[in-house]
Order: sequence, then structure tokens, then C-alpha cells
Amino acid sequence: MKRLANQVAIVTGGAGGIGAATAKLFCEHGAKVVLVDLPDSPLNEVSKSLQEAIPGAEVICIPVNLANEASAAEVVSLVIEKWGQLDILVNNAGMRSYEPLADSTADVWNQILAVNLLSYVYMAREALPSLRKSKTGCIVNVSSTHAFHPRVGMGQYDVTKAGIVSLTKTLAYEEAQHQVRVNAICPGATLTPFHIKRAAEARKSGIEIDHQRYEQNLLKRWADPLEIAYPILWLASSEASFITGSCLMADAGTLG
Ligand SMILES: NC(=O)c1ccc[n+]([C@@H]2O[C@H](COP(=O)([O-])OP(=O)(O)OC[C@H]3O[C@@H](n4cnc5c(N)ncnc54)[C@H](O)[C@@H]3O)[C@@H](O)[C@H]2O)c1
Repeated sequence: MKRLANQVAIVTGGAGGIGAATAKLFCEHGAKVVLVDLPDSPLNEVSKSLQEAIPGAEVICIPVNLANEASAAEVVSLVIEKWGQLDILVNNAGMRSYEPLADSTADVWNQILAVNLLSYVYMAREALPSLRKSKTGCIVNVSSTHAFHPRVGMGQYDVTKAGIVSLTKTLAYEEAQHQVRVNAICPGATLTPFHIKRAAEARKSGIEIDHQRYEQNLLKRWADPLEIAYPILWLASSEASFITGSCLMADAGTLG
């Protein structure tokens, strides 16, 4: 059964681990997919691998910096020009910063708020006129388990992820009158190319990488990106038609 037949979906951060896995499932389930990511990201490689893996997959890439407010309108107008409809928005782009709040600077705050929070707001704002016209319009915002479990040293990131939860609930209330569903997913540690590269830079072995998560969740391991993409697919599908304003914890039960 194809759960997203005849639907058009935008996935921001589509060149990254969770975004690419989500795009793959969406294509397998019949959606036309728009990958949005930075111009220097591996957008084209991801698109090529999707088209090779899934015969007939319809994918377009839009390279833009979502930290700029104007990018959101540009993305949505290109999608409408190409396919004439928009049914699903997955706000997934994200950046991280590693410093205690006591050392935080305005530059980093402005950048991380622009990417992790304001791009979600602007993408939603620009997408909503089309989502309201769709009979199945919905938004899935990618937050984090750390919206609810703050930690030492990533305060700016965790604040943006908590903001996404609040944004999700407000949008769900405001858009219910238009039958647009808005939900968030809160992943736990997910082993994506970003983490693999970071571990390699720190010269960590595979065993050390695995051990990093032993104390973090009940299942004592990382998620594979597909384990986050499947709940995103479900939230975007008609199987979740009575779900709005929810935060789905996909975190194997974060400890602490
Ligand atoms: N991997 C994890 O452990 C984990 C856990 C919880 C939440 N998340 C969230 O899941 C989402 C995807 O994360 P991921 O692990 O796949 O990371 P990732 O770094 O592989 O993907 C994030 C993508 O966003 C893109 N991006 C960053 N800044 C951008 C900008 N200004 N404009 C356009 N695109 C931009 C990046 O290029 C990248 O492709 C992020 O929002 C992240 O915060 C990840």
C-alpha cells in the first residue's frame, strides 16, 4: 500500500541523515519529494541515490540557505510552479552549537535561531496557503528529545528544539480550522553522517561511538535514521488523521 500517493512533500535538510531517510520512504510511498538543503550539501547525490533505488521516484532539489527569510517563499513558489500543489511539509533542517550558555554569543544565537526555529516558522507560513487547499495538508516538525531533557553544553540547540514544540502546538491550534494537522517528532540520538564525521574527527572507534549511547536510553543504542523516518511517514500519512498538536517521542526512552 502506498501511503502518500499523489502527494507533494517538502523535506528541509533533505541532504542530511534523517531528511534523506525520510525522503526515501516518502518516494517509496508514492510522494513527489522536494529536497531542500544548503548549496554545498550533498543534495544531488541524495537525489541520484533515491532515483537509482526507487524506479520512477520523482525528486527535485532546491539548494538554498534557509537562514534567510526569503528562501521559504522561493522554495514554495518553485514547488507550486513545478507540481501545482503541496500537501506535506517536513521541517527538518538543523544546526548544532557546542558551548555553555555562559559563553554564548549573539552571532551563534542569531544563526541557530534562524535555522532551527525561524526557518520552521517561515516555511510553515509560506506553505500554509497550499496546505490549506490540500485535503490532507500537514506539517511534521523535527524537534529533539532534548526539548524535554536539557543537557550541559548544548543549551542554544536545546532551546530551539523546545521552541519547536511550542511552535507545533500553537500552529496546530491555529490551523485546525483549516484541517491542517501539525505535529512534532522528538528523536533521540540517531547515527547520521554528521555524527559519524564528528566521531571520526575526534578519532573515536566504532566501539567508542556505540558506547556513547549506553547510558542515554532504555535500548542502549543509537537509532538508525530510518527508525525516525518511519514515524515521520506515519505522522504525515492518513493513518495519523486524528493526530494534531502532538509530540511523538522517538527516543527509546531517554534516561535522566
Ligand atoms: N541525529 C540526531 O541524533 C538527532 C537527534 C534529535 C534531533 N535531530 C534533528 O533531526 C534533524 C536532522 O538531523 P540529522 O541528524 O539528520 O543531521 P544532519 O546534520 O545530517 O542534517 C541536517 C541538515 O540540515 C541542513 N541545514 C543546516 N543548515 C541549513 C540551512 N541554513 N539551510 C538549509 N539547510 C540547512 C544540513 O546541511 C543538513 O543536511 C535536525 O533538525 C536535528 O536537530 C537529530
